[in-house]
Amino acid sequence: MDKIKILVIFGTRPEAIKMAPLVQELKKRDNFQCEVAITAQHREMLDQVLSLFNIKADYDLNIMTEKQTLFSITTSALLGLGKVLDKVKPDMVIVHGDTTTTFAGALAAFYHRIRVGHVEAGLRTHDKWLPFPEEMNRKLTGSLADIHFSPTEIARKNLLEEGVKPEKIVVTGNTVIDALKTTVKQDFIFSTDLLNNLDYKRQKIILVTAHRRENLGKPLANICHALRKLADNFPEVKIIYPVHLNPAVRDTVFDILGGHERILLLKPLDTDEMHNLMAHCYMVVTDSGGLQEEAPSLGKPVLVLRNETERPEAVKAGTVKIIGTESETIYEEARKLLTDKDEYEQMANAINPYGDGHASERIADFLLYYFGINKDKPAEFKAQY
Ligand code: UD1
Ligand code: UDP
Repeated sequence: MDKIKILVIFGTRPEAIKMAPLVQELKKRDNFQCEVAITAQHREMLDQVLSLFNIKADYDLNIMTEKQTLFSITTSALLGLGKVLDKVKPDMVIVHGDTTTTFAGALAAFYHRIRVGHVEAGLRTHDKWLPFPEEMNRKLTGSLADIHFSPTEIARKNLLEEGVKPEKIVVTGNTVIDALKTTVKQDFIFSTDLLNNLDYKRQKIILVTAHRRENLGKPLANICHALRKLADNFPEVKIIYPVHLNPAVRDTVFDILGGHERILLLKPLDTDEMHNLMAHCYMVVTDSGGLQEEAPSLGKPVLVLRNETERPEAVKAGTVKIIGTESETIYEEARKLLTDKDEYEQMANAINPYGDGHASERIADFLLYYFGINKDKPAEFKAQY
């Protein structure tokens, strides 16, 4: 029998991290012919991940421009992917999550009447503006998808409520935990002395990332002011902030946080470095989606610099707190975790609501079932926490 031809499409750092384990799994199996198309909506930050996971793109649209807009990303990705699909003619396109590449990839497949598998499907805030434009990217992709690989039961429920047929949804866990299981190592050595020589026991390392579109401008400035005050008032604190390459992020962050002896502003870290730094840190302060999934599995408390989350599982479990973007609240919530041992201990529990490291295997197994090669549907992910 012919191999099942799968085209995996992605374009940004987090999609690459979360698709890498799946690409590796599909390439390992004889039943699949797996090719990879990247829009390169991100460039350096995407290439870092490709090189870490040893993935070579078969098609690279190289669309990134400085200060790109949603219009430029959407149109270049759609046009470019249309041509790639014309050539590859896969049995199925697989996209991930909620970026503009994801939506354009699903739409391009639909225009070519090619089936779409959506990984990390069904996350919702139920507010179309938050996160912007990700909530709508994810919903629109969901409308175009033929199979929804949901990471959790809550994500499945969201899709059922929107009328998706139960047989089109499979709960797999999140592939980010597959990736994390390969990167975090007891004896990991960082590539720089700066990170090797930090005193992880005596200092309280706060790992920060913030870059979301809706936080650009005033909210990001508020965040930075709170961070600077924390570094000023707590001598045992060291803030490590790998700064996103977006100039709109860098200008604000370097302007407010530059030149402080206890704040390290770094280039984006390779993902294995980032994951191991997270494993060593005291706590995480972030507006990222991926960090909200990774840190709980490493037992690190997370303060989320947003007013909502599409990842409520760890909030319910008590290891993630949504704190918004007001300076005073950020300072106060971080202060509590730095000074109140009980508060810290309550949040510093290792839990795994998002996955067990086998999501990619489940997705590959489900595809074999969907395409009629395996008779049995694979068992789903059941969270234990
Ligand atoms: C994008 C996604 C967002 C995802 C995030 C992960 C959209 C609309 N946004 O947001 O959903 O959570 O990625 O990080 O899909 N840049 C570089 N080099 C890089 C990457 C970015 O210089 O390797 C700069 C460029 O100037 C670019 C800017 O960052 O124009 C913004 O990139 P963009 O992809 O539009 O937005 P993100 O905030 O990264
Ligand atoms: N990450 C990384 N290097 C960094 C910062 C983040 O490898 O310097 C990883 C992080 O561990 C997570 C992913 O990038 O796996 C999150 O990406 P991002 O915050 O850009 O996007 P989001 O998760 O918000 O979509």
